[in-house]
Amino acid sequence: MATKKAIHDFYQMKKTKEKVTWLTSYDFPTAQFAEEAGLDMILVGDSLGMCVYGYKSTVPVTMDQCIVHCDAVRRGAPNTFVIGDMPFMSYQASDTDAVLNAGRFLKEADVDAVKLEGGTRVASRIRAIVDAGILVVGHIGLTPQSSGILGGHKAQGRTADAAALVVEDALAVEKAGAQMLLVEAVPPEVCAHIAGILSIPVYSIGAGVDCDGQLLIVSDLIGQFQAFTPKFVKKYCDVATIITDAMKAYCTDVRTGSFPEDKHCYHMLEGEEEKFAAQMKARAAKDKDS
Ligand code: KIV
Repeated sequence: MATKKAIHDFYQMKKTKEKVTWLTSYDFPTAQFAEEAGLDMILVGDSLGMCVYGYKSTVPVTMDQCIVHCDAVRRGAPNTFVIGDMPFMSYQASDTDAVLNAGRFLKEADVDAVKLEGGTRVASRIRAIVDAGILVVGHIGLTPQSSGILGGHKAQGRTADAAALVVEDALAVEKAGAQMLLVEAVPPEVCAHIAGILSIPVYSIGAGVDCDGQLLIVSDLIGQFQAFTPKFVKKYCDVATIITDAMKAYCTDVRTGSFPEDKHCYHMLEGEEEKFAAQMKARAAKDKDS
């Protein structure tokens, strides 16, 4: 079993240009698979709102839901670096909210770090959480919790001026004390520039290969999430088809009586069937007499 990585390992990997592998997970079995597969980090993303609960966006996700899922993932992947994602309104209102809710992730679900969305505008939140002794992962570019003000789920930083703003956000996140940065849906040339000028590790989801590692949403990677597939996703298998086909085959077997077979049954112990038949016979006779 690989030893659990810590923050200094991720800094070292940036230096030696070893790419970090990072996926979301939301439940115990998927976390077990991720650990077995050798993932470096797991994000318990608020994308669980869409991937697990079927919400239209991440906005309704609550702190309690995040804690429950982080706790399950921690049990499934005890030797993997786990990051809890701070849901909408768990840090937006004040630095105090940010610290108290970040603290809940550590106290109640034993995560290694928390992630929050935003650059310059959340710098004081990042600073407050870091000052409380909690590792922070920043998240800039397309930030789904504020997709309303970004004009929808759109790539960011595609003009020179817009790219300069993304760079400002990256610098603000690092200056505020975050230990890692995630860049989402930004041109690869902009993310590469950010990874080059920041001393903290910079990871991409939909922001190209020239940075310190990659994140994908596990439900996209395994073909489980059906509503839409972003351009940056690579589907590695199609569990939706595998599972649906298995369920269809089960329905056919049950309807035709070919499941369960004898090998799926618990037969009575040696000699008990005859005793049981005699008992039932006696009982039927008694019922008839009374
Ligand atoms: O919630 C999540 O999974 C995320 C990714 C979209 C980066 O924040």
